[in-house]
Amino acid sequence: MNPRPDNRGAAIDLESVTKAYGAFKALDGVSLRIEPGEFMTLLGPSGSGKTTTLNVIAGFTDVSSGKLLVGGQSVVGVPAHKRNIGVVFQHYALFPHMTVGRNVAYPLTLRGVGQDDRKRRVAKALDMVKMGDFAHRYPSELSGGQQQRVALARAIVFDPPLLLMDEPLGALDKKLREWLQLEIKRIHRELGTTFVYVTHDQEEALVLSDRIAVFNRGRIEQVGTGRQLYDEPATLFVGRFIGDSTVLRGEARSDGTGTALTIAGETVAAPRRLAGETSPVMLLRPEKLAIRRPGQADGKNRLAGTIAEAIYLGSGSKYEVKLGDGSTAIVRSPLTGENFALGEKVELCFDGADAKLLPDDSTADTTLT
Ligand SMILES: Nc1ncnc2c1ncn2[C@@H]1O[C@H](COP(=O)(O)OP(=O)(O)OP(=O)(O)O)[C@@H](O)[C@H]1O
Ligand SMILES: [Mg+2]
Repeated sequence: MNPRPDNRGAAIDLESVTKAYGAFKALDGVSLRIEPGEFMTLLGPSGSGKTTTLNVIAGFTDVSSGKLLVGGQSVVGVPAHKRNIGVVFQHYALFPHMTVGRNVAYPLTLRGVGQDDRKRRVAKALDMVKMGDFAHRYPSELSGGQQQRVALARAIVFDPPLLLMDEPLGALDKKLREWLQLEIKRIHRELGTTFVYVTHDQEEALVLSDRIAVFNRGRIEQVGTGRQLYDEPATLFVGRFIGDSTVLRGEARSDGTGTALTIAGETVAAPRRLAGETSPVMLLRPEKLAIRRPGQADGKNRLAGTIAEAIYLGSGSKYEVKLGDGSTAIVRSPLTGENFALGEKVELCFDGADAKLLPDDSTADTTLT
């Protein structure tokens, strides 16, 4: 439970890990290096393989092929209880017949830790999750958020070099979730342990993580910081999954100067082209698009549209704009910007350099949760 600047937690290496159930591959060649002390989030839609990856690391599931190293040592074939890994699940798996104190002491009892040491470490773990006053309560006498904090205390009390969490805040309401996200971040900082965290909530991933691995259909599409994934998505799937985005599809022409897309008779251009024969789309972040009244658009790239939805966000407004081809663009406009009414005809404009050119992927839209 002491801060461990000397020991920043265990590294994890997954190398070409595959997990098959019959002909179906829940994991299909997953490779991932997690650095000692890192906060790594596994993000992806339902069924993409996040929990399977966590179960493989924990030892609850065997791999079909590939390598798995924890702290540089292969753990393939090592049973879960010998891996010394802390685990927290979505549903608080506290023992209902034990008090909070006995729940948290349980991993220490299993490890034969003496009574005095046990008491001290339980108190410390409960303090860390701000549940020091609840040691004598039973789980049924706690709120959901309190139970999850106890589960977290139980997972860190034996000072594991690695903590795995599978949607631990999934069952809690938004406010509580946001507060516990910050608590988990603080605990990670104080412990210095490696955290691997599963969520399908991209905002949660952005708040918590050093890096995020984006899963899709049993594979990792991209690993990077939130900023890297937002600014430089490697695939359309990643671009759509992280943050809001507008995807422009049209008849494409590429030449030495870049790529042009013709969408319902209007042509927009970006100064880049894709290698190969893939059909390109343009991805634009909401803050890279500007809304203007007709005739007032600046710059070369403009698209006519109609305001389909106006959402007041406090810090500004978000507009959904229906384009000529029936698709929807998402635009964020600052508080100081002009206001537009539902049904109003507008023009969107953008700098071609801000458009990310990506290969089209028809699964990117449909696999969102
Ligand atoms: N024991 C099993 N037998 C057969 N298929 C399984 C088994 N366990 C998981 N799967 C399948 O493997 C795929 C990945 O499941 P996994 O639980 O890893 O998804 P997930 O990303 O955690 O999704 P969610 O966000 O819904 O929790 C799913 O299609 C699931 O149905
Ligand atoms: Mg899951």
